[in-house]
Amino acid sequence: MHDTLLRVSGINAGTEDKPILHDIDLAVGAGETHVLMGPNGAGKSTLGRVIMGDPAYQVNSGTIEFGGEDITDEAADKRSLAGIFLSYQAPVEVPGVPLYSYLRTITQKRPELKMTARKFRARVGEIADQLDMSGSFLTRELNVGFSGGEKKKIEMLQLLLLRPKLAILDETDSGLDVDALSVVSRGIEAYRADCGGALLVITHNTRILERLSVDRTHVMVQGRLVAEGPASLIDDIDAHGFEQFERANASGGDRA
Ligand SMILES: Nc1ncnc2c1ncn2[C@@H]1O[C@H](COP(=O)(O)OP(=O)(O)O)[C@@H](O)[C@H]1O
Ligand SMILES: [Mg+2]
Repeated sequence: MHDTLLRVSGINAGTEDKPILHDIDLAVGAGETHVLMGPNGAGKSTLGRVIMGDPAYQVNSGTIEFGGEDITDEAADKRSLAGIFLSYQAPVEVPGVPLYSYLRTITQKRPELKMTARKFRARVGEIADQLDMSGSFLTRELNVGFSGGEKKKIEMLQLLLLRPKLAILDETDSGLDVDALSVVSRGIEAYRADCGGALLVITHNTRILERLSVDRTHVMVQGRLVAEGPASLIDDIDAHGFEQFERANASGGDRA
């Protein structure tokens, strides 16, 4: 493994009254691509949010280290500035604020991304081209009415602009249409090529993974990571589903 970028050790976490994650250990090296798979309700999104520091969840024991620093008690905005990105954080609805202004505001908070307005415009244009986004999109308000595919474009634009060290892409369970899928694939490729950052892709959609060179695959069942393996584990899941892991977990959990 490369230098460890993210190290999750012995995490037990959940909401105030509901334990969701149990004894989670996960390490992601700098620049590595990891995939997290598992059936609905396993706790995949919760893990992404706990790594990001979503205050809806509390960590009861264990630690999260990022870049060698213990960030277990850091607020989400600090983690974001440190270089963690969670796709779920896409701006949802901010009436009256055009996308372009929103992006300018978030980049100006980061010293390493300070640039002139002119340079910023050029950079955004470049990324929009990479993602095949129309310019009119950028002047639209962050208002109600962005489609799922459009929200994905905004996420990918944010990702390429912010250049995080670790991008956690939670594709949710809603499924992506062909257009959104292509934007996500392109975004991921550009991120890998231009930023060299690490990825944790949470997905059901093995089509996204076809074009991605995956270093490690993790399987979560009922709030536990029950298997870890190379990229070929994805093909195994494609062919046989999660049942094998669910059975093993129910019978006391042999690690694959
Ligand atoms: N904020 C929350 N409040 C209550 N229950 C939650 C919350 N977030 C997640 N859960 C529950 O935790 C479990 C795991 O959810 P989730 O992480 O979304 O699973 P996945 O992403 O693998 O489908 C589910 O039973 C879900 O209902
Ligand atoms: Mg989920």
